[in-house]
Parts: sequence; C-alpha cells; structure tokens
Amino acid sequence: MEAYIVDSLEQHLFFGRIMKEHALFLEAGFLPPNSGLARESERLMRAFEGLLSRAIGLSDCVVRRRVLDSGELFTPFTDCAERQTQRLTGIPIDRTLTARTMALAGNHRGEICLPRGLDRQVRQLNREGLRLVDQLIDLKERTLRGADGCALFTANYPLLIEHILREARHYRGHLARLEGMDCRCCREPCEEELFWDQIMMEHALFMRGLLDPTEEELIRTADGFAGDYRQLLVASAAANAKVMGCQNALELTRKFRDFKHAGVEGIESCKIRALILPLLADHVLREANHYIRLLEE
Ligand SMILES: [Fe+2]
Ligand SMILES: [Fe+2]
Repeated sequence: MEAYIVDSLEQHLFFGRIMKEHALFLEAGFLPPNSGLARESERLMRAFEGLLSRAIGLSDCVVRRRVLDSGELFTPFTDCAERQTQRLTGIPIDRTLTARTMALAGNHRGEICLPRGLDRQVRQLNREGLRLVDQLIDLKERTLRGADGCALFTANYPLLIEHILREARHYRGHLARLEGMDCRCCREPCEEELFWDQIMMEHALFMRGLLDPTEEELIRTADGFAGDYRQLLVASAAANAKVMGCQNALELTRKFRDFKHAGVEGIESCKIRALILPLLADHVLREANHYIRLLEE
C-alpha cells in the first residue's frame, strides 16, 4: 500500500504538471478559427492544475527526497519560465503550484507514517487522473488528425503533437497499472528505456526545427543528439545490448540535459533566437531529468 501511494503521487507530481503544460502549448498554438479547441485546451489545463494541486496537498513527507531533488518537478528556471510564458502568451499560469512543490518535504526512509485514509484519497486521484488524461488524449488525437488532414493550422509541429500524445498514453499506462487495469504487474525496464530514448530523440528533432535558421551551431548540435539517440534505439533493439544500452543512455542523456540546461538559460535571457516558449524549454529539461533519475535507479 505504501509503494502504491508513493508511486501514484510521484507520477502525478511529474506527469500532472507535464499534462497541464501540454494543454498550454496546444492552446497557444491555435488560431482564431480554432478558438473552440483553444478553449477546450484551457479547460483541461485548469483541470490538470486542480489535479496537481490535490497531489501536492497529499505529498508532503510522503514522496521520496530523490524525486524532489531530481529536477523533474521543477528546475531553477521553472518559476521564471512560467512568469515569462504567461506574459508572452497571455495565458494565466498558477505559479503557486510551483512554489508549493518546491516547499515539499521528502519522506524519511523507514519512518514513513501515512495519514489514515490516504490510500482512498490517492485512489480517487488516480481515477480522476485517468478520466482527465483520456480527455486530453482525445483532444490531442483530434488536433493531430486535423493537422495531418490540413483541416486546421496549429503552430505546433505534427511530430510535437504525436510526441505529447505518446507521453499522455504513457502516463495513462502508469495509472492503469497502479489501478490494476493493466495485467502486467510492472513495466519492463527496457520498454521504459526505449520509450524515453525515443522521447529524447524527438526533443532533439523538434528543437532543431524550432531554432531560428541563423542558430547554425545549436541546430548542428541538436541534429547530433537526434542521430545519437537514433543509433541507441537501433542498438537497444538488439536483445543482448540492454546493459550496455543503459550505460550509454545515461551518458548521452546527461550530455543532452546539459545542452537543454544551456538552452533554457539562453531562451530565458533572450540570447537564443527560436520559436520556443521558455516553459517548453524548461519542460524538456525536466523530462530529461526524469529519465536520468529512472536510469540511475
Ligand atoms: Fe512533454
Ligand atoms: Fe517530451
């Protein structure tokens, strides 16, 4: 029961924030003919803010210190990225969620004392997470179909929409597993690794495309990372390369994390020309930090 509670809350603290930001990126990408989709994105963003707020309220002294310290829930740039993104898009962002997450205390190993009824509240939260993520998956699928069929224009690449759809399904998979709806008791580590290697490769691909064409060196570096992850994916597909793959993935992702770290810094300080919102730059950095923590575990 303890593992169920801790795992659930850690998933919501990470993915709940990721989902609300996906909804914001979708909203910011629509034009006036698709104001209905923009409103739907806004509504889902607020719903995920509510879910995240409830998860934060249940997490103090319950989630692990190493998760709080991993840089997957917030980075030194998150608060500023939210402030800047709110100003640039005109979409209000509840920044108290970031401040409250930063103030959370971790559990002390072996001394975890769970309040009565917490399991019931976590179960409700997981059910609510499943309901909301299904709605967000549906919105992303409709947006992708519209973009692929040239029926709507969005400032987001089809690959980016496909990518955030993949992440939503991944979150859904974790919740289904926690709620016993997935017959596999736990996900295969190599399956998780393949998923995140592909996610990292796609970050490199859409970052290179969102950089201003004059940012030649950054584009070359991003291309290099995309190529490295593609090679890693090919190598990992070979059955006997799993152990090597994990070590290589860790080394590569630490380098990619440093690149993304410099990227957020450059975007927040207006030193990089790009079509990248500060919050998107911070978002992909947090996802790299999340993957690094999983690989280290
Ligand atoms: Fe994401
Ligand atoms: Fe991502």
